[in-house]
Amino acid sequence: MNILLIAGGWSSEREVSLMGAANIRAALENLGHTVRDFDPAHELDDLTHRARKADFAFINMHGSPGEDGLVQAMLESADCPYQGAGPAPSFLALNKAAAKQIFRDNDIPTPDWHLLTAPLENDTDIPLDFPVFAKPNTGGSSVDMGIARNREELVRQTSIIFSHCDQALLEQYTPGTELTCGILGETPMPVILIRPKPGAEFFDYANKYDEDGAEEICPAPIDDALSKQIMELTVRGSKALGLTGYSRADFMLGEDGVPRMLEINTLPGMTTTSLVPRAAAAMGLSFEDLIAELIRLGLE
Ligand code: DAL
Ligand code: MG
Repeated sequence: MNILLIAGGWSSEREVSLMGAANIRAALENLGHTVRDFDPAHELDDLTHRARKADFAFINMHGSPGEDGLVQAMLESADCPYQGAGPAPSFLALNKAAAKQIFRDNDIPTPDWHLLTAPLENDTDIPLDFPVFAKPNTGGSSVDMGIARNREELVRQTSIIFSHCDQALLEQYTPGTELTCGILGETPMPVILIRPKPGAEFFDYANKYDEDGAEEICPAPIDDALSKQIMELTVRGSKALGLTGYSRADFMLGEDGVPRMLEINTLPGMTTTSLVPRAAAAMGLSFEDLIAELIRLGLE
């Protein structure tokens, strides 16, 4: 097939997107496809024209544009099939506050949150206890994310966020362990436990992408009942957001033993240290097998 590999863009995760795209390009070529690169940062206007000439588009973008449904909507208008979620579910999932509201409506535990739509003023009331996580409401890869222990740190952290994004999500910080679970088609993938390097407060950018970053253990060394519970929440979360193809749900397992869903990533990272490829390997699927399966699902 002639495949348009869409990667790059102008979000804060541009580099992550390009790193993953190099792996995907190699896999697509090994699978016998002809690959043409497309970077919306340079030529978004030309997307529908280029997509009409392709048999399939493989999207490897993170954040906006790409993970927010815009590229998916343009591909739909060009009648070009692609992998993963459609425009509206992508748009919903990338908005962390909107997705958390849907999780809560569906009895999926998620940490308490507060959405800031303007920079924090000194008298803005925050209905959360310190420490809190502050993150861009539509970002990823932990870019501009931090833990604030007091109001001063929160003002500092949110001013960084508002210099790049127009909404900040404040989320109740609870000590615990980060777990993640992918879904491929309708099948949950093995759960992964993330152990950030000593000294790291959470699974930050360096822990995510440095070769000697966090330790990611798959299948997670947790009991079967918890593993099943996380897989079941992943399936329910994906259905609640209307996702198709694949995605990856991130969880914080609190010291109270409750796994709380943080978000679902509709275009999970595909770098050599990324989690969905790792979970696929634990299922006996090579990176190429995973790419082939995503294309098969996208053509269904
Ligand atoms: N946002 C990054 C790419 C991930 O979820 O893997
Ligand atoms: Mg994310």
